[in-house]
Amino acid sequence: MEPLRIAIVLGSTRPGRRAGTVADWVLGRARSRSTAQFELVDLAHHRLPLLDEPDPAIHGHYLQPHTKAWAETVEGFDGFVFAVPEYNRSVPAALKNALDYLYREWNDKAAGIVSYGVDAGGARAAEHLRCILGELRIADVRSTAALSLMDDFTDGEPTPRAFQVQKLDMLLDELLSWSGALRSVRMATVR
Ligand SMILES: Cc1cc2nc3c(=O)[nH]c(=O)nc-3n(C[C@H](O)[C@H](O)[C@H](O)COP(=O)(O)O)c2cc1C
Repeated sequence: MEPLRIAIVLGSTRPGRRAGTVADWVLGRARSRSTAQFELVDLAHHRLPLLDEPDPAIHGHYLQPHTKAWAETVEGFDGFVFAVPEYNRSVPAALKNALDYLYREWNDKAAGIVSYGVDAGGARAAEHLRCILGELRIADVRSTAALSLMDDFTDGEPTPRAFQVQKLDMLLDELLSWSGALRSVRMATVR
């Protein structure tokens, strides 16, 4: 079987964002796993405008070149780790917009969530994200690393406490298991 392809999605596009350093931490921890290839996916590089497709994504009629390029990127992955900060108790608009652009390309895939924020390690954003992922038929794994800006960062760089590293390892175990299982589901489904 081809190795699983897992995207680590930077959930923020803000200049000066921490999303890149959080995604790098996930990538560094994940790379030792030989059954999967991990790649960073940066929403800022895709430069998606606010949703400008006439049809809802569930119809699958994409007109805009940026939608087609984004669909091709997402289609190529078996699973996702979302590095998501909390913005006003939810996910950043850029991430919600990127999720809203597509439908079938997300379906029957797995995801893990690494959240971060000032309060509660971004837990409210993670919970909102779980609701969104369910609607897109993305199976979110139970384990979450929720990094506190107070306790898991030093000078802006992630310095996660030991239990956060354990949580990330559990997340990755669950994600690879479900990504493999869901690849079989997709292969058995007419798409
Ligand atoms: C618009 C905005 C809203 C925010 N709202 C919250 C919030 O509700 N709860 C929280 O814990 N942190 C909040 N924060 C702090 C962010 O979680 C923190 O700045 C984080 O580093 C942002 O991610 P980024 O650096 O990757 O953009 C907010 C930050 C921004 C920019």
